[in-house]
Order: sequence, then C-alpha cells, then structure tokens
Amino acid sequence: MRDGSTKYFDFTVIGSGVAGLRYALEVAKHGSVAVITKAEPHESNTNYAQGGVSAVLCPRDSVESHMRDTIVAGAYLCDEETVRVVCTEGPDRIRELIAMGASFDHGEDGNLHLTREGGHSHHRIVHAADMTGKEIERALLEAVVNDPNISVFEHHFAIDLLTCQDGSDTVCLGVDTLNTETREVIRFISKVTLLASGGAGHTYPTTTNPLVATGDGMAMAHRAQAVISNMEFVQFHPTALADEGLPIKPTKPRENAFLISEAVRGNGGILYNLSMERFMPTYDERAELAPRDVVARSIDDQLKKRNEKYVLLDISHKPREKILSHFPNIATVCLQHGVDITRHPIPVVPAAHYMCGGVRAGLQGETNVQGLFVAGEVACTGLHGANRLASNSLLEALVFARRAVQPSIDHMKSSSLDLTASNWWCRPVAPVSLRNDIMHKIVTKTGKLRKELQSIMWRYVGIVRSTTRLETAEQKIGELEANWEEYLFRQGWEPTMVGLEACEMRNLFCCAKLVVSSALARHESRGLHYTIDFPHLEESKRLPTIIFPSSTVSTT
Ligand code: SIN
Repeated sequence: MRDGSTKYFDFTVIGSGVAGLRYALEVAKHGSVAVITKAEPHESNTNYAQGGVSAVLCPRDSVESHMRDTIVAGAYLCDEETVRVVCTEGPDRIRELIAMGASFDHGEDGNLHLTREGGHSHHRIVHAADMTGKEIERALLEAVVNDPNISVFEHHFAIDLLTCQDGSDTVCLGVDTLNTETREVIRFISKVTLLASGGAGHTYPTTTNPLVATGDGMAMAHRAQAVISNMEFVQFHPTALADEGLPIKPTKPRENAFLISEAVRGNGGILYNLSMERFMPTYDERAELAPRDVVARSIDDQLKKRNEKYVLLDISHKPREKILSHFPNIATVCLQHGVDITRHPIPVVPAAHYMCGGVRAGLQGETNVQGLFVAGEVACTGLHGANRLASNSLLEALVFARRAVQPSIDHMKSSSLDLTASNWWCRPVAPVSLRNDIMHKIVTKTGKLRKELQSIMWRYVGIVRSTTRLETAEQKIGELEANWEEYLFRQGWEPTMVGLEACEMRNLFCCAKLVVSSALARHESRGLHYTIDFPHLEESKRLPTIIFPSSTVSTT
C-alpha cells in the first residue's frame, strides 16, 4: 500500500445509517471518529424507512405489551432480555432524537401522533408522514457534519476488517477500504470499530433496499471470524409497489422496489386479490394487521393459487385529506404511475426487505471479536427472533448504537494493543490494474451473474422453502461462484485485486450461502422460515442458528 493511505482514528464507524451516525455523535465526545460510507452519506436503508419507529409513548400502552407483540411476531425466538432492554430504553432514545432536531408528526392534541402497524396491539409508531427514515437521517447527518471530531469518508467501500490474534482472542483493528472515485485503497486503523453497514436485500431480485445493501458487513465479519446468527430469517415486506400492475410503467427497471408502508394497512388498508375478494381473514384472524411473515405468505399463496402477478391494497375508503397528509410520498409516487390512491387500490407484491439475522451481538453490541461492535441491521441482537415486528428496526438501531458507546470508550482506553503490530490478518489488496476494455467485460459479466444469483435465491430460497429447493440452491450457488472465479482468473484477475462490483459479488455469494446453510439447518417452520418439509413449529427447536467462524452451522 502507498504511503499516506493509512489513517488513524480512535473510532471507525462503517455505515452512515441511523446506527452509525447516532453512535458516531456519542463517541465523538471522547475521541476522533471516521465514518466510512459506501456511497453518498444519506444512501442507507434508514433513508428509505417509511413507517416509523415504535416505542411506548402513550400512557395506555406499556413496555410489557410492546415486549409481547415483539415476541409473538418473532415466533418466540426473540431473546427476552434484549426485547426488554429495547422496549424499555426506546422512548428515551426517541426523545433524544427530537432534542437533536428530528421532527415527527403531532396530533391535534399536540402530542406525538402515534400510528399502528401489523403485529402491534397499540398505536405506538412515531413517524414523519411516510418519510420517517429520511427525517431521522437528515437530523443526524446535520449534527455529524457540524461535529469537528467526525470525518465522513464517502464513496469508501469497506473491503475487509483488519484483525490480529491476542492470545486466543481475535481483535479488530480497523478496516481496509476502496475509494471508489479515486480507486485508491485506504486503510483505517483504530482500536474500536462499529460495524453498522446495513442489510443484504440485494441477494434477491426484488428488494426495497437501496443498491448499497449487498451484505458487505455480514460477509466481512464472517471472514474476520465473527459469529453469525439466524441468517435464514429473511423478511419479505408484504407490500412493495408492483410495477406490472401500474397503468404507467417505470421507464427503466428500478434499482429497488418502492415500498408501500405497513402503516397503510395499519390505517385501515385492505388487501384484495384481482377478483376484489378480501383474502387476509381466511388466513389469520388478525387479517391485514397480522405480522409480516403471515401477510407475505398469504399473498404468496394467493398469487400461486390464482396464477396472478400482484394483489391490491386499498385505502381509498379513508378520507382523502387523511390519506394525503399521512402518505404524501406514497400518494405522489403512485400518481406518477397513474394510481390515485385516494380513489383506486395500489398493486403490490412482497419484496425482500430486512435481514433478521446478522453478526451475533451481546447486550452492548459487542461481538466475539474484541474491539468490534455492531448495531443496526447488520447485527443479530436477538430482538427480532424469527420475524421482525414492524418499525422495531430503527428502534433497535438507536438503542444498540447508544448501548455500544460506553464499552467502546472503555475498550479504546484500556486496549494496550500495538497498532503497528505485524501479525495482522488482512487480505492483501490492491486496486484493479486491468485494461479498461477487460474491466468493462468483467463488470458486465459480474452484473449478469449477480442477477442469476438473485434469481436462484428467489426461486429456491424465497417465502416458501423445501429441503430439495434449498439443496438445489446450494449446488447452483456453488457452481455459479466457481464459474465466476474461473472467469475472473481467465481475464487476468489477481486474487489481491479489489473493485467495487467484484467485492460486492463476493459478499453477495457469501450472504446467500449463509442464508441457505442456516435454512438447511432449521428443521421446522418458524416465523420467516417456512419449509414444506417441516411445516410446524417445534418447541425443541426454539434456538438461534449459529454459524461459527469455522463455518459449522448449528441450532444448539
Ligand atoms: C414500513 O413502513 O412498512 C417499513 C418500516 C419497517 O420495515 O419497519
């Protein structure tokens, strides 16, 4: 690596969504912070979160009720202590956000307007119309850019974590990154690293996640010996806009599916099939307000039985002004495509939305790798169990970003590790140095293979699974990866070379394999993992799936 390409900070934060920014603002009171982000700082899953943040803020609601709803939605796989901590600390985290300038909707009584979503037995979702994530991201980013102790490095792709052995402990010392604009490799060294890099929605062809969600954090952590958990629980949001059902189709394929917030159902939206038959009550007595796994599976069943491409979500029976004030963004986007949601139903389909599994974390966001903390979607804290309750993700990110602060400071102060140690583990990396025409071919081929991987995942590792389908996926993914590596080799690609598309592809392969091996290890149906070979929930299998660094998978 060239001189000058190594930077030293007290804290390195990977990711600029709510978890990364909230944490950065706290630790910046104790040292220098680098926030590394793959694209523009606002381009995170947080920014696309419509519905809101759930928290007990109404006197008629209770922490016990929020806990119960979380555990029921999570199909009893949630870690009860984590659930208690998050539901108890959530309200204060929201008050802090408001104090930092985030502006949420208020009702006529002057109190925060609380809406309801699937699986919640109370109105407890704080929101900023239907653009809650955007408002939180705006407020946090504004604070971050004004903080002299925080430096934001945009267009820096995190390649691999740097680790070394300290006795029997694996210790994280920072991260190697690729500046995707200058193509330089930049090394960030620090005693504490927070991984807050979001999810892996782009392992599937249709996802509500922005293009940056390629599972980089989970894959990097796995390579760095971190324990990974519950990767079989991929949440499909029941209602993404179905382009096929729109009178005016998008002019070019979307990078991500447009979300129709769960709050639409929470505010009375009804699901119909194309014969305008309301179908949810025949699947679950909670009807449209059943948890997401149930609603997504019911829609999937309707589509398969009726051989249709989408279902309809109708909110037009509600007062026009209420619809427009609560869902201005959804109304605008639908209208651009010829659907006036105050008069007509919206065509919707399920789309990959959220990864409930991730890097296994303790109650302070700590991992089995010393100096490595996690928060947000990349983490598996035990809150979501087998299925995340709507609007619990921003909440979890806020709570864990805050909880990771003190142990991070303690670690930073107490660690006597020599940051110039030579016994590091890191993949030797160098920017790609192939001819432009060869690079063009590689990028095109990689894009094609990425689509093939996504289609394998949707076809064989989707909403309804079977052992045969999962085994087929395992074999096809293995072959695809081997073909890709062989192709790169033939083009003269050296193992040390790093380029954005190739690194993302490698991470997508890794995440896809983690999902498939975890799904194969779970011999029951629970929450988001539904398999026709083990169609029932088994009390004896109420254990998280653990992927140990050696890649062995267990549910014990
Ligand atoms: C939504 O508005 O439906 C998305 C929010 C979430 O995923 O919790």
